[in-house]
Amino acid sequence: MDPISWTPNLSTIGFAALSYVTYKLARQAIIYLLPSKLARYNRTGNNWALVTGATDGIGFGFCQELCSRGFNVILHGRNAEKLAKRAQELNAAFPERNVDTLILDVIGVDESIDSVAQQVRDITGNNGKLSILINNVGGELRTSVTLDTLTFADVNETIDKNARFMTQITRVLLPLLSEGEGRSGLVLNVSSLSQWGLPYVSVYSATKGFVDTFTRALEAECNAEKRGVDVMALRVGQTKTPGYDVDSNLFVPLPRPLAKAGLDRVGCGEVIVWAYFWHWLQGISFEIMPRWILMRATVAAMMDMKRKGQEKALKRQ
Ligand SMILES: NC(=O)c1ccc[n+]([C@@H]2O[C@H](COP(=O)([O-])OP(=O)(O)OC[C@H]3O[C@@H](n4cnc5c(N)ncnc54)[C@H](OP(=O)(O)O)[C@@H]3O)[C@@H](O)[C@H]2O)c1
Repeated sequence: MDPISWTPNLSTIGFAALSYVTYKLARQAIIYLLPSKLARYNRTGNNWALVTGATDGIGFGFCQELCSRGFNVILHGRNAEKLAKRAQELNAAFPERNVDTLILDVIGVDESIDSVAQQVRDITGNNGKLSILINNVGGELRTSVTLDTLTFADVNETIDKNARFMTQITRVLLPLLSEGEGRSGLVLNVSSLSQWGLPYVSVYSATKGFVDTFTRALEAECNAEKRGVDVMALRVGQTKTPGYDVDSNLFVPLPRPLAKAGLDRVGCGEVIVWAYFWHWLQGISFEIMPRWILMRATVAAMMDMKRKGQEKALKRQ
C-alpha cells in the first residue's frame, strides 16, 4: 500500500484524539463553574446534616459551611469535650441554626451502631429531617511506613476509620435520608488522591479505593430503587489539617475552603468528583503521566514527609 495514502488518515486520527481529550477536559473544567444544588436538600429550611469526624480539619470546615448555607448540623466525634467546644463555636457564629453532637468512636464499632438512627431522630425531632450524611472521618495513622511495620491493630484501625464505619453508618441512616418526597437525601463520601494506589500508605490507599467503589455501587442501587437519595464521592488532594500538617498554598488549601469547594460540587452530575479545582488540575497528571514516573515522585514525597515528621518529633522532645 502507498504509505503516502496513510498520511491524511493519521492526521485525522490525531485530530480526533486531540479533540476528544480537549472535549473531556473542558467538560470536567466546566464543573467548577456550575452553581451548587445543595439547597435542594433543605427545602423546608429545617433540615439537618450529619458530619462524621467533625471536631477538626475538613469535617469542621463542612460544619461551618453547612451552617452558613442554612442547615442544622450534627457533629460526630469521639471526644465529648472537643465536640461541646466546637458546637459552642458554631452556635456563636450561626445563632439561628441548631447544632447537636453524636459521640461514637469509629474504631471497633459493633451492632450498637444501629441505635444511631434513633439518636438522630431524637435530635432532629418531628419537624426536622436528616437530609445529608457526610462521611468525612478518615486518615492514616502512620504515614510513610511499609505494610509489614504496621501492627494487627494499626491495619484494623485504618480500615475501621476509613471504610468499615462509613459503610455501617450509611446502612443505618439510609432509611432516614430517603424519607420524604422526591430528592430527599444526599450521601457525600470523602475520598482521596490516594485511591490511585500509593506506596507507604497501602492500607489507607486501598480503603479510599473502597470508598470510590462503594460510592458508585450505592449510587446505582439508590437510583435503581428510586430511594430519592443521591450519592457522591469528593476526591480530595493535600489539605492542611491537624491530621495532615503541611504548609498551605494554592494547591494545599485550608479545611474550610476545601469543604466549601466540595459542597459547591453537589449536583454537578458526576458521581465522583475532585472537590477543589487546583486538586483536579493536579489529578490530571495521574491520568496522563506514566505510572512509573508518578510512583517515583510519590516515593520521594513520602520519604520527604517521613524526614520532616522525624525532625518535628525531635524538636518536640
Ligand atoms: N488532609 C488531607 O490532606 C486529606 C487528603 C485526602 C483526603 N483526606 C480525607 O479527608 C478526610 C478528613 O481528613 P482531615 O485531614 O480533615 O482529618 P483530621 O484533621 O485528622 O480530622 C479527623 C477528624 O476525625 C476525628 N476522628 C479521628 N479518629 C476518630 C475516631 N476513632 N472516632 C471518631 N472520630 C475520630 C477527629 O477527631 P479528634 O479531634 O478526636 O481526633 C477529627 O475530628 C479524611 O477522610 C481523609 O482521608 C484528607
